[in-house]
Amino acid sequence: MQAFLNTAVKAARLAGDTAMRYIKRLDELDVRSKSRNEFVSQVDLAAEEAIIETIHERYPNHSILGEESGQQGDSDHLWIIDPLDGTTNYLHGFPMFCVSIALQIKGRMQVGVVYDPSRQELFTAIRGVGAQLEGRRLRVNINRTLDGALIGTGFPYRENDRWLETYLNQFRSVMQIASDVRRPGSAALDLCYLAAGRIDGFWEFGLQPWDIAAGSLILREAGGLISSMTKDGDYMETGNVIAGPPKVHAELEKLLQAHIYSATPSSSK
Ligand code: IPD
Ligand code: CA
Ligand code: CA
Repeated sequence: MQAFLNTAVKAARLAGDTAMRYIKRLDELDVRSKSRNEFVSQVDLAAEEAIIETIHERYPNHSILGEESGQQGDSDHLWIIDPLDGTTNYLHGFPMFCVSIALQIKGRMQVGVVYDPSRQELFTAIRGVGAQLEGRRLRVNINRTLDGALIGTGFPYRENDRWLETYLNQFRSVMQIASDVRRPGSAALDLCYLAAGRIDGFWEFGLQPWDIAAGSLILREAGGLISSMTKDGDYMETGNVIAGPPKVHAELEKLLQAHIYSATPSSSK
């Protein structure tokens, strides 16, 4: 696994360098809109290309699931890539974005790397071995409860406004108990910050596999829990995510699901 991790780290640093090279001349970037509030720039594309090239140099037969290039190959070794998580932040020069790379083998996440090039912070995990930030072991705060916690979230700001009303009600409930709420704008980093104890819980609707593949392994290896907020599948399938240390996770689950299920008991949501 260490060799896979080394490859992921090399690829993540290359992609991060690409992002930092362009950040001083954002106004020259070629940016296109994929859908409402969803943008892709030449940095996303160049970074993904650099990552895939690095992986395929070492492992030419491995499969890829990349945000920008989709799925390729049918190997049971699948690399799940978000070349730039936090594109909206990046395009504003708001320094909260990262590169996220995970390796899934036979359907199980084995290696995860999240690299924040603005702070040069590298979060890594190998299944069963633990999660690290720059060589330091990460642990969530297992004694933390929701009362007084700092909670991270992501807004349903795109096509997924199906959840907007539910989300706003959830937000009110969380605000009434937690000490404050943050919306940093990069789901992969949100999960790593949770792993590092910088926030105490997290929820968001409508995430994609590449947003959460690496971060979820890093979080779980730091002792955190992550699950689907909706009862229609695994969190990697639904993308509706609740995460936190065990006690906060349990409290958030109860609080957030009450807004989804109690109002519409017969709903298939
Ligand atoms: C986005 C970020 C953001 C989350 C969005 C994601 P992108 O990823 O993770 O925090 O709220 O749902 O799509 O598009 O910047 O890679
Ligand atoms: Ca993303
Ligand atoms: Ca992205």
